[in-house]
Amino acid sequence: MSASVSLVVNLTARPVTLPIFSGAETSVWRYDALVQDGNAESIQVLKNSYLGPIFRVRKGQRIQVRLKNELPDSTIIHWHGLRLSEEMDGHPRYTIAPGANYDYDFQVLNRAGMYWFHPHTHQLTGPQVYYGMAGVFIVSDDEEAALSLPAGEYDLPLVIQDRTFDSQNQMVYLTNGMMDQMIGFLGDTILVNGMPKATMDVKASAYRLRLLNGSNSRIYKLAWMDGTPLKVIATDGGLLEAPVTRDYLTLAPGERVELWADFSSRTGSEMRLVSLPFSEFSTSGGMMGGGLSLPNGVPFDILSLKVGEKGADVSPLPTHLSTIERHRLEEAVNQNNPRSFTLAMQGMVHSINGRVFEMDAVARDEVVRLGDLEIWEFANLEGSGGGMGMGMMNMEMPHPMHIHGLVFQVLSRQFMQGNESVYHELSAGFVDDGWKDTVLVMPGEKVQVLVRFEDYAGTFVYHCHNLEHGDAGMMRNYRIKS
Ligand code: C2O
Ligand code: CU
Ligand code: CU
Repeated sequence: MSASVSLVVNLTARPVTLPIFSGAETSVWRYDALVQDGNAESIQVLKNSYLGPIFRVRKGQRIQVRLKNELPDSTIIHWHGLRLSEEMDGHPRYTIAPGANYDYDFQVLNRAGMYWFHPHTHQLTGPQVYYGMAGVFIVSDDEEAALSLPAGEYDLPLVIQDRTFDSQNQMVYLTNGMMDQMIGFLGDTILVNGMPKATMDVKASAYRLRLLNGSNSRIYKLAWMDGTPLKVIATDGGLLEAPVTRDYLTLAPGERVELWADFSSRTGSEMRLVSLPFSEFSTSGGMMGGGLSLPNGVPFDILSLKVGEKGADVSPLPTHLSTIERHRLEEAVNQNNPRSFTLAMQGMVHSINGRVFEMDAVARDEVVRLGDLEIWEFANLEGSGGGMGMGMMNMEMPHPMHIHGLVFQVLSRQFMQGNESVYHELSAGFVDDGWKDTVLVMPGEKVQVLVRFEDYAGTFVYHCHNLEHGDAGMMRNYRIKS
């Protein structure tokens, strides 16, 4: 590695207690950061939050992170969205035992954007993230710096999550047993950056709001309460070429979206970000009982921003944000024969091409070549009536599909079959224009992405980012062969 190390950080994963509510403190698990070397401002800690630190690094920087595992579980960090070798990526087979350390040393190849990190322990990713383990990883670069987007106090990372707390203020996970594993965990309390009923004071100025859906399985339909359209400037893999406008945004677990929001003429008002109602996906007979009280689609207040006095002068949002080199379909090695992944129920679990995760297995159709550009096609056959297998229940589930170690471009979406009106309650909120690493595949939908395996040979995972689905097996290895 040519670059010299410019930041050395210890991340200790440990149980702590926090005052999230008045009364009893809440037990959580957290990444605690200690800068050993380099600019201490590269690490920002959110006060009284279970979330780990926010990294702020530059493209090209080489960093070292020592993970110290003080949890009672084995764990490993995965850097979501980063282009890394398999040893640095955090495949579940690299998990370390309680008391052990794992050393990361990598150069940041990604363009400016909001990435994140979280555990990736076999069958325990859901609970480990749930109890608090996740952090934001922000990359900047020269292309972005030239735009003078809102920065410093006007650049707000906002991690949206849902949790359920008991009467002692403790987090409760998987209360509905197997149903939660099939549907995914859905909490009744929304937190932003670890704060319930989140309220923030902002100034009358323009802001860059960087939203991450860090929830285990909840999908949000985000909108401003007063109907102001949302101005989107970036997605998972950084800036779009040009801002796009949406009335609402559909954000699935793992996905990010960045907004440019101008509050300069809003002094004294309260800007409320909400999640709008949409139809529930799975319908059931008696099976779900009364357990699932707040399914996907229930409306929520997310965040309220109280606009105070005048802040920094607003420079207009540039009409051109970045240059995105589009992958060329003609260059795909499987242009006429997309590599297809069918998402369907297999017994009681969601599967990929009829398979579930095996630590070391890579099937013949999961091997690709370093350097190749390919079309990957995710077809969600759930909800078609065909993949039910559950008697009285129609298991219609959206699956946010994520590929490790790279970013990709969405080529097409096609609604194939099933409940099209439910589909259209969310489809106008997708932003597929830029670089992505996670893409929501709705029930009955087929999504094609163009993906180039350009950085490292090795074995990586691809999986559903509904963390309960992933833990239950909706994850597979793929191998990049040199
Ligand atoms: Cu955030 Cu394997 O993923
Ligand atoms: Cu990832
Ligand atoms: Cu899924």
